[in-house]
Amino acid sequence: MCGIVAYIGPREAYPIILKGLKRLEYRGYDSSGVALLNKNLQVFKKKGKVAELEDSLVGKDVHAHAGIGHTRWATHGEPSDRNAHPHSSASGRLAMIHNGIIENYTQLKAELTRKGYTFKSDTDTEVLLNFIEDIQKNNNCGTEEAVRIALKRVVGAYVIVLLDRDQPDTVIAARKGSPLVIGIGKGEHFLASDASPIIEYTKEVVYVNDYELAILKADELILKNLGNEKLTPYIQKLDLELAAIEKGGYDHFMIKEIFEQPDTIFDCLRGRLDVTKGTITMAGIQNNIDKLTKANRIIMIACGTSWHAALLAEYVFEELCRIPVEVEYASEFRYRNPVIHPGDVIIAISQSGETADTIVAIEKAKENGAFIMGVVNVVGSSIARISHAGAYTHAGPEIGVASTKAFTAQLTVLTMIALKIAKEKGTIDQSRYIHLLEELHAIPEKVKEVLKLSDSIKRLADKYKDAKDALYLGRGYNFPIALEGALKLKEISYIHAEGYPAAEMKHGPIALVDEHLPVVFVATRDSYYEKIVSNIQEIKARKGKVIAVISKGDDVISKMSDDTMIVPEADELVAPLLSVIPLQLLAYYIGVAKGYDVDKPRNLAKSVTVE
Ligand code: F6R
Repeated sequence: MCGIVAYIGPREAYPIILKGLKRLEYRGYDSSGVALLNKNLQVFKKKGKVAELEDSLVGKDVHAHAGIGHTRWATHGEPSDRNAHPHSSASGRLAMIHNGIIENYTQLKAELTRKGYTFKSDTDTEVLLNFIEDIQKNNNCGTEEAVRIALKRVVGAYVIVLLDRDQPDTVIAARKGSPLVIGIGKGEHFLASDASPIIEYTKEVVYVNDYELAILKADELILKNLGNEKLTPYIQKLDLELAAIEKGGYDHFMIKEIFEQPDTIFDCLRGRLDVTKGTITMAGIQNNIDKLTKANRIIMIACGTSWHAALLAEYVFEELCRIPVEVEYASEFRYRNPVIHPGDVIIAISQSGETADTIVAIEKAKENGAFIMGVVNVVGSSIARISHAGAYTHAGPEIGVASTKAFTAQLTVLTMIALKIAKEKGTIDQSRYIHLLEELHAIPEKVKEVLKLSDSIKRLADKYKDAKDALYLGRGYNFPIALEGALKLKEISYIHAEGYPAAEMKHGPIALVDEHLPVVFVATRDSYYEKIVSNIQEIKARKGKVIAVISKGDDVISKMSDDTMIVPEADELVAPLLSVIPLQLLAYYIGVAKGYDVDKPRNLAKSVTVE
């Protein structure tokens, strides 16, 4: 949450920062701002999306060779011009942007208020900035040292980036718990929350670690710890192309990403799954196979859509590997007192690899001796780095705020891990194992088939776009898909939707059913088929509108339904990879039909780096 960009070097800073902010808007978009350091330190900020900031700066003098920019997802203080970042210190000499939450800011604010400070905003950021300036005054020290002293008092998560009017050749940044990447150019440096604002200028990057401070000049990068010791920056080469973060002719990133799924699932399988040899090659799993096969228990930790992938993986792992699995919301797990034994394996699932709750939950499990496997999309992200081992999902950058291709890539990787463990443990027989490898291998082509439904789903969206509520029901492997379908609809179209196990409906939600309620059944042909047919009848008997995702050739449910979305047949273990896609399309087209900005749904941000 919140995107930050900074530049120092010979080029004009403002256009670089502006473009970078547009790329990072998926991280938050309720206000944005820039601070530009020329002879003066100028701060411009505006409520609303980055385009509104851009409009407000037309004709203004934005000439500068050092600057910082921020796009905000509000935590402390409503979205407004005055709460937008950058914030200025009391003297006006410092400007700062911040991503994260300063948990002890009320205490710091009280101390500063007693000393006579007043605040222009409601943010924790302005408090921290004035705290830094106050330390500087009292200790008669430079900004860098004041930052170091201040951060030792700070409780919470942050990336902060500062400009000091008296040091026009320097940008200072520090990180704990929120992501920060430095781009190293020729005689210039870039800083950003992720690599997307940087890749068109350089592929050489340094990922800043927690409790590190970066002091950037045009031609120098100094990395230090909070104890003021110099560190050697570890320079990595980015494996990312510009095209991957552009819309490529689609109206929105979300639809581009939905349509990328045949390729992303294929990329996820490529080099790993070999049907002819009957093998799955995943080094991170193979190197730790004993820990996995001997695990007493697997605990899956995730949030949101990634949690839905975890829930589905629970069904798959228990079926194939016969290892007990628990699925935890990271935000609950981190604050409970969970019982964790050294023989437990944690599988942490995250697209961004930066979700704050998931990171802290991992740290907690690690302290208790658990072995951590990360299933992560963003290469080099925090979760990838703090896990003992793992597997990347290789879905490429996911920019649409609602997760789509990352979800199917997570399911693909998790299914491969389960198959690999099951094979090693001997809990799957050879013919079922080979059958499932073939079924996985066939998925990308079948996804292409499902995507052909796009136009008919668009018509369906027009029919149902004015619904006030919707119910999504599924059983077994399709239950997590019902949850995911409901989440997609809520996020993108703001229609209240609930996902439920179809059989649970009778224990409460059936009271909602009347002739106005669309009920989406995820009812592909599987071992629960007969049961879900009965559930559909129960809805029909109460005049609910039934929209069903069904398998090709299913004449029974198609006759009972008001509308259907037909997907190819697949083994029930991998069928969710197909049945989720019509639900992604339905949410997308309803959001578009209602005129919403589907790539930037209200109140959301792509990467939830605050708890
Ligand atoms: C929903 C969505 C979120 C994320 C959740 C976890 O479409 O994208 O629910 O799944 O915030 O994020 P990651 O996977 O990055 O840890």
